[in-house]
Amino acid sequence: MREFKKLTIQNLTKKFGEKEALTDFNLTVEKGQFVTFLGPSGCGKSTALNCIAGLLPITSGQIYINEECIDNGIKKVPVEKRGFGMVFQNYALFPHLTVFNNVAFGLELKRISKNEIKEKVLNILKMVHLEGYENKFPSQMSGGEQQRVAIARCIVLEPDLLMLDEPLSNLDAKLRNDMRYELKTLHERLQVASIYVTHDQQEALALSDKIVVMKKGYIQQVGTPEEIYSHPANLFVADFMGFRNIWEAQIEEIDDSNDEAKIVVDINGHKLISHTKFTNQNRRLKPALQQAFKNHQTINTAIRPEDFLIGKGETNNLKCKVGIVEYLGQISHITGTLNNNSQADFRASEKIRIGDELDLWIPPEKLLVFPKGVNTYV
Ligand SMILES: Nc1ncnc2c1ncn2[C@@H]1O[C@H](COP(=O)(O)OP(=O)(O)OP(=O)(O)O)[C@@H](O)[C@H]1O
Ligand SMILES: [Mg+2]
Repeated sequence: MREFKKLTIQNLTKKFGEKEALTDFNLTVEKGQFVTFLGPSGCGKSTALNCIAGLLPITSGQIYINEECIDNGIKKVPVEKRGFGMVFQNYALFPHLTVFNNVAFGLELKRISKNEIKEKVLNILKMVHLEGYENKFPSQMSGGEQQRVAIARCIVLEPDLLMLDEPLSNLDAKLRNDMRYELKTLHERLQVASIYVTHDQQEALALSDKIVVMKKGYIQQVGTPEEIYSHPANLFVADFMGFRNIWEAQIEEIDDSNDEAKIVVDINGHKLISHTKFTNQNRRLKPALQQAFKNHQTINTAIRPEDFLIGKGETNNLKCKVGIVEYLGQISHITGTLNNNSQADFRASEKIRIGDELDLWIPPEKLLVFPKGVNTYV
């Protein structure tokens, strides 16, 4: 038996007829890592997962386990020999089998004694908090319980790589949170390499070591949750990670050093300062900004609603007339019009009323800048 160290995907492309669902997909998943594919519906998440699993033929590229090529479009290791486990959104349990028999099913196909099967099944059921459910049928259980059976059925086979395609999307909000926590605990315990598919950014941030953000079959950015959250590589990723207040701007001035820049932008006649850091995550940004400056091209700026501060700051001061207040308990969501006529979407914990005139300011490191039409990732 080989020991799984890493999965490597190189230049993977998948076409359905003329339609390219996945283009030049590159990724490494190491032992113990939790990697998430994040993106909107139709961006190719399930396609990528099914190609890796061997359920879909690939059009070109290569997939490796350690140094061994398991798929290059011509030569292909079959699904059952890859040692991967898959959990689907709809659980796919056997309705006529009890919980015990659902989980035991895969083990019975291997040559293992009845006693050992029993021990393994009971152990796994305990791990997913389903002790005492052995004799129930799937139809007698809630969605969350069924999903835990589906996960137990998969991990009891000790796969090298666990793949989960939107496993929580059929559950209500509260159960999703509980199951998210359980998945995280389970992963900490088992340390099995995992690929998780979701279109929920909170889920991706909470669970992952590495997030792959996708759009229309293209990878937009690969990074840690912190990198993706704080340094989105382009406007698409920023939008997906909760940046709002996307305003068009002209660059007035760039004062850059090696890895950061102070950029003065004009937004509808209002001058604001952005402190931008250049990292591996946005290394195309610097030349793209310089070019936009030279050619007087319009760029986009973006700010998270929670990054506005109320009051007067050292710089980036604005005045806002409050238009809409949505009271949500501890905080309110507020929409207002700035003195340059831009709409601003921000948060406040103090009591604010429609028609109030507020001072707002934006810390310069919270104002992101994105040249248009440039994918600032690799
Ligand atoms: N069997 C197929 N035949 C033709 N086109 C397909 C097939 N499967 C997927 N596609 C197309 O490939 C693209 C990617 O689909 P995929 O199912 O991978 O998206 P996804 O990111 O998983 O979306 P969702 O979040 O809705 O599950 C879509 O445009 C889809 O219509
Ligand atoms: Mg899908």
